Amino acid sequence: MQDSNKPDLDESLNVTTSHDPMLREAAAVVREKHVDEGGKEPMSLWIFGACAAVALVAGGALGKAGTFFNYDETVRPGYVRQTLDTDDGGALPPVPALKAYMTKGEKIYGKCIGCHAPDGKGGGAFPALASSEWALGDTEKFAMIVLNGLSGPSSTGKTWGVMPAQGVGMSPTDLAAVMTYVRNSFGNSTGDVVTTEMAAEAMKISEARANPGSPVTADELSADHAKALPGEPIDPAAMVDPVTLAPAETAAAE
Ligand code: HEC
Repeated sequence: MQDSNKPDLDESLNVTTSHDPMLREAAAVVREKHVDEGGKEPMSLWIFGACAAVALVAGGALGKAGTFFNYDETVRPGYVRQTLDTDDGGALPPVPALKAYMTKGEKIYGKCIGCHAPDGKGGGAFPALASSEWALGDTEKFAMIVLNGLSGPSSTGKTWGVMPAQGVGMSPTDLAAVMTYVRNSFGNSTGDVVTTEMAAEAMKISEARANPGSPVTADELSADHAKALPGEPIDPAAMVDPVTLAPAETAAAE
């Protein structure tokens, strides 16, 4: 028998070898199963996922219904929410009509610039728009030339050739702007605005021509189009939206 108070002196037992299976088993237990105190076990991942799905669907339904969350109730009283109004040209400040039409018209003049030159003086095979009688005179004549092109002779009596029609793809606003631009650039200064409404009338008149699509001639211009385009003239200083060129009455009234 062995005295428990005395050290085990039995050398026949290899302590390391006999402890080995136990250590191995303990290592396996540690590896395979993490034992926590009751109630502190980690939650199964599928429960977590299920809760997330429920919260997502329920939150979406409730939020949309506005029962539990309403944006308007979370803001301070008197706070005005900023709204984006895309119809008024991004709320750019209005500018005087003549300036607005000129700015837009300068861009549209890109269609003409290759022939009539940046300074409107023409050159080579092209007549000048500077001091041109037909650009500065009756607006209906001018509009018919732009929309349909012109088969010479020109206003000076000289025949240069044929100007191709420029109306394709032009909106009434484009036409009004380029006409206003030509009439007030290159030393020209009629000081008036050819309005979008006038240009829209010009397009109707152009479609109603006897031979629509063919270039106009000097004879047709003087016979049928020697007049100003119908439409109310506007004050060149009246404020308009710089993008749409529409009168900015509401903005000015505020
Ligand atoms: C491809 C060249 C070309 C382009 C582009 C062109 N024109 Fe012309 N334009 C002519 C030619 C050529 C004439 C003269 C035709 C003739 O008399 O035989 C002319 C004549 C004119 C006249 C008459 C001038 C006068 O006093 O007789 C006006 C006005 C005019 N163009 C305006 C415009 C405007 C505005 C644009 C741009 C929207 C434009 N043209 C684009 C070639 C062009």
